[in-house]
Amino acid sequence: MSAPLQTQACRLLGCDLPIVLAGMGGVARSELVGAVTLVGGFGFLGMAGEPAARIEREVAAVRAVTPRPFGVNLIPAATRPALLDEEVSACIALGVHAVMLFWTLDEKVVARFRDAGILVACQVGSRVEAQAAQQAGAGILVAQGVEAGGHVRGSLPLAKLLREVVPSSEVPVLAAGGIVDGRDLAAVLEAGAQGAVVGSAFLASPESFAHPYYKQRIVEAGAEDTVITDVFHIGWPIAAKMRVLRNSTTDRDRREAFQVPPVPIGMDDGQPVYRFSTAAPLRSTTGDLEAMALYAGKGVGRIDALMPAAARVEAMAAEAQAILAAKDRCRGSAAG
Ligand SMILES: Cc1cc2nc3c(=O)[nH]c(=O)nc-3n(C[C@H](O)[C@H](O)[C@H](O)COP(=O)(O)O)c2cc1C
Repeated sequence: MSAPLQTQACRLLGCDLPIVLAGMGGVARSELVGAVTLVGGFGFLGMAGEPAARIEREVAAVRAVTPRPFGVNLIPAATRPALLDEEVSACIALGVHAVMLFWTLDEKVVARFRDAGILVACQVGSRVEAQAAQQAGAGILVAQGVEAGGHVRGSLPLAKLLREVVPSSEVPVLAAGGIVDGRDLAAVLEAGAQGAVVGSAFLASPESFAHPYYKQRIVEAGAEDTVITDVFHIGWPIAAKMRVLRNSTTDRDRREAFQVPPVPIGMDDGQPVYRFSTAAPLRSTTGDLEAMALYAGKGVGRIDALMPAAARVEAMAAEAQAILAAKDRCRGSAAG
């Protein structure tokens, strides 16, 4: 079943299917990465801001589940330099197959990974960023449309961004933002992408480390329930746009986010979670979960139930393959 969907990006990543789990901080840990990777997709561990010990633990846990390659996601711009150095060194020492980097381009980090023989994927939001990432040595680009859940780099809808990035790229381009099912996957493959990067839809799986309350909110949300906001900024060095579910915090006066001293509204891993923090509610989080950053892409309206990650990978692949095969038959009969 998998061969017709295999792309050059799959060959670089070492996976069978062009379905990539986004490296979601806190949420995409070993259980989810293992589940996606085991059935032929490719998973990125969301390790931004995590110490080397956690990266080592999570990489070992995935390796205990599957011998297939997988990757690690880091966000250099949101990580203290000493911690970033520790993370990069850990990934290199562990010999991870690939890394996905996001937000501003850190050429030195790209070069360190490249020199170590590690495939670098850079998630970008514009053609200019795509070109800079390629020049720095990215082996894969991820074009992130404005439909994406979490931090959103650019302002273009995915279809338009692909039209800008695909023709000018010499390396494979993956598509991210609002991709939920096989129809979406078929559409981005037809638009010239070599695979889909999926976040929110995999968040709504038993294997994700998101809090059950958060998963339920994703399942219940409608297409119009996400907003783009910069109020969730505590934990990042700069205020940055992100797409989240509208909630009691996004409804507050925006000035409060930047003018009032941080107010704790919960706890995670022994640390306070503040209102306006970038931390999303995880299995380990307690407190006012409704008021936290509920990252979600625009596809939420079509995520109607929790689905095991493997089942979602298989359903996406089967549906995309059927759609593309039917289109091929149509083209064949029109030509004949
Ligand atoms: C809960 C959540 C956390 C995210 N965390 C990260 C992250 O740590 N690093 C990163 O590069 N992207 C992160 N993203 C963005 C994803 O890389 C990707 O662009 C996005 O999930 C694609 O859109 P979708 O959620 O509609 O599938 C996150 C997205 C979500 C939903």
